[in-house]
Amino acid sequence: MSANQLDKKSQAWSALFSEPMSELVQRYTASVDFDRRLASADITGSLAHADMLAAQGIISAQDLADIRRGMAQIQGEIERGEFSWQLALEDVHLNIEARLTQLVGDAGKRLHTGRSRNDQVATDIRLWLRGEIDLITGLLRELQGALVEVAQRHIDVILPGFTHLQVAQPVSFAHHLLAYVEMFSRDEQRMLDARKRVNQLPLGSAALAGTTYPLDRERVARTLGMEGVCQNSLDAVSDRDFAIEFSAAASLVMVHISRLSEELILWMSQNFAFIRIADRFTTGSSIMPQKKNPDVPELARGKTGRVVGHLMGLITLMKGQPLAYNKDNQEDKEPLFDTVDTLRDTLRIFVEMIGGQPNPVSGAKEGGISVNPAAMEAAAQKGYATATDLADYLVKKGLPFRDAHETVAHAVKAAQSHACDLSELPLKVLQEFHPAIDKDVYQVLSLRGSLNARATLGGTAPAQVQTQIARHRARLALG
Ligand code: ARG
Repeated sequence: MSANQLDKKSQAWSALFSEPMSELVQRYTASVDFDRRLASADITGSLAHADMLAAQGIISAQDLADIRRGMAQIQGEIERGEFSWQLALEDVHLNIEARLTQLVGDAGKRLHTGRSRNDQVATDIRLWLRGEIDLITGLLRELQGALVEVAQRHIDVILPGFTHLQVAQPVSFAHHLLAYVEMFSRDEQRMLDARKRVNQLPLGSAALAGTTYPLDRERVARTLGMEGVCQNSLDAVSDRDFAIEFSAAASLVMVHISRLSEELILWMSQNFAFIRIADRFTTGSSIMPQKKNPDVPELARGKTGRVVGHLMGLITLMKGQPLAYNKDNQEDKEPLFDTVDTLRDTLRIFVEMIGGQPNPVSGAKEGGISVNPAAMEAAAQKGYATATDLADYLVKKGLPFRDAHETVAHAVKAAQSHACDLSELPLKVLQEFHPAIDKDVYQVLSLRGSLNARATLGGTAPAQVQTQIARHRARLALG
């Protein structure tokens, strides 16, 4: 470290410090290597603060002009990769402020009037996170749209619905996909709701107690497009619950992605063969020449652990911190950044894998997943998926449900011993279980009959599924 750098560092505090930090302490306490990512938000926040300081007569119009000019240059330097980040200046805030002062002199030193890095950093993270939430919300909508499009093409494709991973009842593949649309739609709502609490302004709280200058915090909030102003300075500089809340919402998105991934992985296995995942989303094995592995969904399932881990990290970080700001909070950034990066990349890749990419020649979208309806239907034929339908049939003929359930259990046992499906038992045999059974039973025992019969709101009947698709298309403005 040069003497010049040391000088800058001790200047950041005061003449009170009589000895420099060791290099280890400097590296341990610095955050500039990762928080430089907040640079744009930091500049935006500073410009809004400076604009208000000038409007309130706390700094001059000339100071404001100088600050704007300096910041424009700094923004350019950062974008072009020319900005010289200095570890000795600890964090993004001190780096930018030092460069500003170098460029415009005293006006740069006046920028920090009425604020502290404590309210500054809280503002920066909120501004940055708000932008990320908007991108994530957009991706969640794209993913829902992609799922709805695939669902629309597969309303009449039937696969076994499982409970306990045992064949339960036949369902429409579209209905199955729409279950995920519901999950991602709630995720979108959760993100939008968290955004309201992220989008509140800490600036003006200064170090912890407010400030003696006549600040107009409402004006700064308006300039920054924030929905409100944090109403308690101690709370504003210290709590990171907004980041924890976002992380919890992000964890739930990943949990939903992970569940979908698990199904894609199962469905792609030779034992199911329900789907094929395009080669560009799979990898081979270095030893087994026949292998094609679903790496993308597997990694997404794996990365869920890391996002949930970050949630645990953040929530534990907050626990036990007394009011107000503590340096512990510097530890909020890396988990938050990694959560955002992981979530964004995962959503992007799923949008591509499910929705497809435009073919460079034809322009038509090529999906990354192709469906094998015959394999799905064959699987639905196994496992007596329409047994409940037979029970319901008997109930409609006047049997109490519990008796019908028992009667059908005997019929299933008989079918099992003949190694055939219920629908393959001759009418005579079926009538031995109950005389009310007639030849209309075969319609009831068919996969399509079973599907059509489940027409309750939210059920798997194709007519219901159509209604749901229409609702989602309108909601997602899919046209
Ligand atoms: N780098 C710090 C953080 O991320 C900025 C605030 C520092 N404030 C302080 N009083 N040391 O939290």
